[in-house]
Amino acid sequence: MSKNQIRSIKGTQDILPDQSYKWQDLENKIHATMMLYNYGEIRTPAFEKTELFDRGVGTETDIVSKEMYSWIDQGGENLTLKPELTAPVSRSYIQHNLGSQQPLTKLYYIDALFRRERPQKGRYRQFHQFGVEAFGSEHPEIDSEIIAIAVTLFNQIGIKDLSLKLNSIGSETCREDYKKELKQFLKPHFDKLSKASQTRFEKNPLRILDSKSPNEIDIIKNAPQISEFWTKDDKDHFDELCSYLDAMNISYSIDPKLVRGLDYYSRTTFEIISSSLGAQDAICGGGRYDGLVEIIGGKPTPGIGFAAGMERILMIINDANTKENIKIFIVGLGDSVRPVVAKLTNDLRHNNLSSECDMLRRSMRAQMREANKLGAKYAIIIGENELQQNQVQLKDLVSGKQKTIDMSSIVSHMTSLSF
Ligand code: HAM
Repeated sequence: MSKNQIRSIKGTQDILPDQSYKWQDLENKIHATMMLYNYGEIRTPAFEKTELFDRGVGTETDIVSKEMYSWIDQGGENLTLKPELTAPVSRSYIQHNLGSQQPLTKLYYIDALFRRERPQKGRYRQFHQFGVEAFGSEHPEIDSEIIAIAVTLFNQIGIKDLSLKLNSIGSETCREDYKKELKQFLKPHFDKLSKASQTRFEKNPLRILDSKSPNEIDIIKNAPQISEFWTKDDKDHFDELCSYLDAMNISYSIDPKLVRGLDYYSRTTFEIISSSLGAQDAICGGGRYDGLVEIIGGKPTPGIGFAAGMERILMIINDANTKENIKIFIVGLGDSVRPVVAKLTNDLRHNNLSSECDMLRRSMRAQMREANKLGAKYAIIIGENELQQNQVQLKDLVSGKQKTIDMSSIVSHMTSLSF
């Protein structure tokens, strides 16, 4: 590698043509699924005011406290590349008063996000999410629809080893009571907790439940469970959600420690994990965020959604689809032939036939090799002789058969063939 060469930034990836067709395929399936569920696509800016994430996601979360790409711009504004989409989509929902047009507003997005995490397999600093957000209903039927979207889509695209983990972290009063009790329980173990958990002990003890350290998992296993602190409404909400999932034959396991790492959640939380993924095994995570719209300046509005990591989906997808090949390669030989080749290639493309021709003035052999490499089904060969006689040679590259066709009818002939 030359010293002058500029490389991409750690944790970012180029998506090259041998991969991008898979992205397009997945994106098309997502758009089609969202049509079925009646969700509209929303696209928000790449950067927002930092305050949106401070207030929306919470200053004590890992995302806001450690991972944001933030800067003061030339006008003195504190800006941040979006690390997640729920807060920006909620901001947009409020700003455009979407709730006044539809009491239940159902939105989805496919977008690039930025978090300064330690890169590893399945964890990047620029990554992509497909997500859905529904505003306006507090009822568990929308929770079940949101979960059904994720499960249906993942099943449809061939992800087999899914498991859905479900929990409710209750309403605010429940969480406040629970936090007190949890702190009581953790106090005697305080010295054995990691530095990060000791900080969380004061600010957000629920996050300690999320710990991956074996020592802390051992301490936590006897901790009181949040379900013991649910209000009656919390319990009814959760039970109803479970009954809808049962009715839809969606299997799940209840994980009382699933609290998720963003501050806006209340009641339903869920994650879908895949054992094919390794350490970063969450394909998608989501939950209810009934307080968020109000926190960032809107009218109290319930909301629920999820986001799924596109890179992670693509890592495990059963890749049945292959890239579509070029259909026709036009082989041209000789200076006088070139304008004819240019016109014919263009005409075929106008007729919706993917076509390619040589732009490197290569030999006949090299052009035929290129046609095969591209997987073309037909080669149309035009040399000086063919040009003089107003003809072309059409070669079927699968059967090897070749025939002569009049130049004037080659486009209509090609459009009549089945590929
Ligand atoms: P999250 O759990 O931070 O939630 O991210 C959701 C998904 O994005 C993860 O399950 C994972 O698949 C993917 N993901 C997260 N970080 C990375 C990374 N550094 N590299 C690759 N993939 C990653 C949220 O973002 C919430 N906004 C989800 C939500 C929507 N909740 C309600 N509505």
